[in-house]
Amino acid sequence: PARIVALISGSGSNLQALIDAAEMGAINGEIVAVISNNPDVQGLERADKAGIPSLVVDHRKFDDRQAFEAELSKSINHYSPDLIVLAGFMRILNSEFVQPYEGKMLNIHPSLLPKYKGLHTHRRALENGDKEHGVSVHFVTAELDGGPVIAQRKVKVEDSDTEESLQSKVRQKEHQLYPEVVAWFCSKRLQYKNGKALFDGQTL
Ligand code: GAR
Repeated sequence: PARIVALISGSGSNLQALIDAAEMGAINGEIVAVISNNPDVQGLERADKAGIPSLVVDHRKFDDRQAFEAELSKSINHYSPDLIVLAGFMRILNSEFVQPYEGKMLNIHPSLLPKYKGLHTHRRALENGDKEHGVSVHFVTAELDGGPVIAQRKVKVEDSDTEESLQSKVRQKEHQLYPEVVAWFCSKRLQYKNGKALFDGQTL
């Protein structure tokens, strides 16, 4: 089974979806560690409950981003992962950090990329009067939320939707999509070559 390290910053509901899928045997992989940049978040409790080792690398305790990322890399590499999943990890990452993991780091982002990179995606979709919105999973590259998209799930935006209702609809799609994509990666159906995502050998 593939060794998976998950990076989180908060509630960890996507982490939970991955834990559940791995426990059910839907993913040929094992989450071997959970790393959070924030102490006292629910995601760390979820790891504990699942018996997964977890640690905190608190960005506030470092002089600069480079020092934080050096420690983060060290912590990740300690577990020799085949795959690193960003599951609600809310720190921007330098290219020096990302590069060694290119092709084996995934991120889930709550918008239909390339729309709405960055923060407040649900608010921006509403403000723009979008009729559809959704979630993307992509390989992480040096460009923020800019790596090759692997898969997306859409939701309809209703007139009655608020930022909160939209977030909860998108979150449900996230919990289905992320385990699916991670399963593809672990079974080697999903690959990364020359900056592109491949599924069963075909460019996505
Ligand atoms: C998720 O909606 C995820 O897509 C988003 O943060 C949330 C984390 O929820 N990620 C980003 O915005 C990354 N830029 P969770 O902690 O419950 O999984």
